[in-house]
Amino acid sequence: MHELATAPNHHALHGSFHGARGLAVAMTLLVGRSKDARLACELADVRPGAHVVDVGCGPGVAVREAMRRDARATGVDPAPVMLRIARSLTHDRRATWLDGTAEALPIADGDASIVWSLATVHHWRDVEQGLAEAHRVLTPGGRFLAIERARRPEATGHASHGWTDDQAEAFATVCRVAGFTDVAVARHRVRSGTLLSVVGVRA
Ligand SMILES: C[S@@+](CC[C@H](N)C(=O)[O-])C[C@H]1O[C@@H](n2cnc3c(N)ncnc32)[C@H](O)[C@@H]1O
Repeated sequence: MHELATAPNHHALHGSFHGARGLAVAMTLLVGRSKDARLACELADVRPGAHVVDVGCGPGVAVREAMRRDARATGVDPAPVMLRIARSLTHDRRATWLDGTAEALPIADGDASIVWSLATVHHWRDVEQGLAEAHRVLTPGGRFLAIERARRPEATGHASHGWTDDQAEAFATVCRVAGFTDVAVARHRVRSGTLLSVVGVRA
């Protein structure tokens, strides 16, 4: 088996978030995701005044959920179509949408109190670099959160997007190496299935 198949970013080479395919994916990401966004807000303990950076924000469901809790929120995504849809669906002008990747966040050092990446770490090109960036932009004591759909090791196609338990644990190990403390992996039952989360604190 190729080494990438078992890595936390096993879909790093997936390139279908641009153009018409990206538009189709964005439409599917608008359906049934608010529960995941609410779970993210609970796990990251979003409070009024927090600055949430959503890495790989897609069409922006979780950014809008954070803003409902009076947080300031910045969505970052490399796919122009995702950012276009996110902007057009967000009436709250306090939201910021930026072209960027996990590996090169367009955010100043220490400017974020929360960085999360939902259903996206499995697409990061470089996990170590992405975590170094999350660490750089978080203020000391800030929280990092990743959520992925739980998947079976043998899953293929669309069902393979997400993490096995081993991939979540492997990602948690890289988080510790990157300098995050209190790193914890958890499983969550939601109506659409099971989600895996990894949370850590920027020391
Ligand atoms: C499955 S979608 C998830 C979108 C959103 N977080 C959600 O949960 O609805 C994955 C997103 O990650 C973005 N993405 C892909 N590679 C990325 C990278 N290296 N850094 C940041 N985002 C990336 C894609 O453009 C896409 O919008």
